[in-house]
Amino acid sequence: MFLENQRLTHLPPAVYPVIKVDENKCNGCGRCVKSCPIQLLMIKNEKVIHNERYDHFRCITCQNCEAVCPQNAIMIDGDYRVNRGYWKNDHLFSGSKTLPVSLDNRDGASEAKGGKDQLTETEKVIYKRRSVRLYKKKQVPRELVERVLEAGRFAPSAGNNQPWKFIVIQDKAVIDKVDLLVKKFCRIVMYATMPHQWVKKQVPGDKNAVLKPWQKIVYQLLLRLRGPNELDPRALGGINAIVSDPDYHTFFHAPTLIILLVDRRGIGSIDLDTGICGQNMVLAAHSLGLGTCYVSLIDGLQGFPRYRKKLGITSPFEIVTSFTLGYPSGQVDNVVEREQLRVKWI
Ligand SMILES: Cc1cc2nc3c(=O)[nH]c(=O)nc-3n(C[C@H](O)[C@H](O)[C@H](O)COP(=O)(O)O)c2cc1C
Ligand code: SF4
Ligand code: SF4
Repeated sequence: MFLENQRLTHLPPAVYPVIKVDENKCNGCGRCVKSCPIQLLMIKNEKVIHNERYDHFRCITCQNCEAVCPQNAIMIDGDYRVNRGYWKNDHLFSGSKTLPVSLDNRDGASEAKGGKDQLTETEKVIYKRRSVRLYKKKQVPRELVERVLEAGRFAPSAGNNQPWKFIVIQDKAVIDKVDLLVKKFCRIVMYATMPHQWVKKQVPGDKNAVLKPWQKIVYQLLLRLRGPNELDPRALGGINAIVSDPDYHTFFHAPTLIILLVDRRGIGSIDLDTGICGQNMVLAAHSLGLGTCYVSLIDGLQGFPRYRKKLGITSPFEIVTSFTLGYPSGQVDNVVEREQLRVKWI
């Protein structure tokens, strides 16, 4: 038991991808900085550089910075690999990440990035959908939001139980309030689970920073209540970025926010059903020229039952996740690489 706890509470020996920037191409536009979910990048002398403040909580290889760069100036080289401990993953992968095979094998990677191929419209939507964190201020008309919701309504579900419910927020003041509350909750999580030197940024990136004895107890309680996945160092790194940056907006100033709720009285796999329903909506939104980004940090609202009630989130409904919706600002949907397929054929 003690050894198991040790394996979970100690940061794993991980290898992170390297962020490479071509200084000759980078024009310092800052699009990658705003798009990075972990706030790993910053602009210095009109060029993008690695944000050293978050040295310990590195890249999740989402390649969003590549997807939004108008200059093809940034590249993420390598993958997240852990060779020991609870989060060990290096035995699961046979090589480095690749583009979708159907694109890679056809006209070559460079043309695939431009989307020149014979894929179906649905396949193109799947491969070119990215999490969008750069939005225009323009509101999405109600008719379009309704088309997105309609795609969710026709999702499959176990026993056709359709356990979902949606809350659509288009009032900027309300989205801003939810952002504030989520960040408040994240701050509490950080103070309970991270070395305080990191949270307060007194010694950014100090590898010798340690958890206080009472934090180790809280950590163990959370492990049992929520499971280790939510304490993955990358997840905590993302939350730390939000807590540390006063300008960070949890919903990226998107004009519309859709919260996905699940009816706890539903049949069987209700969370999975609601996730499938969400992805129907996200893909439909992309096909309509809209951008989306799932934001599960909305979970932070759990700390504010009165406000949740005000929004209409009451039992037996619970939050599963949320996603932002709006018109993307500039090019955001380049195809990116992903881990190779893990599959067993029988
Ligand atoms: C269930 C779920 C929750 C997510 N929560 C967040 C979030 O809170 N904040 C955020 O910036 N991105 C969030 N994301 C977006 C992921 O970071 C993103 O999907 C991933 O990095 C892959 O990038 P892509 O969507 O551009 O392909 C979430 C995605 C999913 C599926
Ligand atoms: S998006 Fe591209 S051009 Fe703009 S700052 Fe980032 S790397 Fe440089
Ligand atoms: S790959 Fe994703 S996490 Fe890594 S630097 Fe780029 S945007 Fe940030």
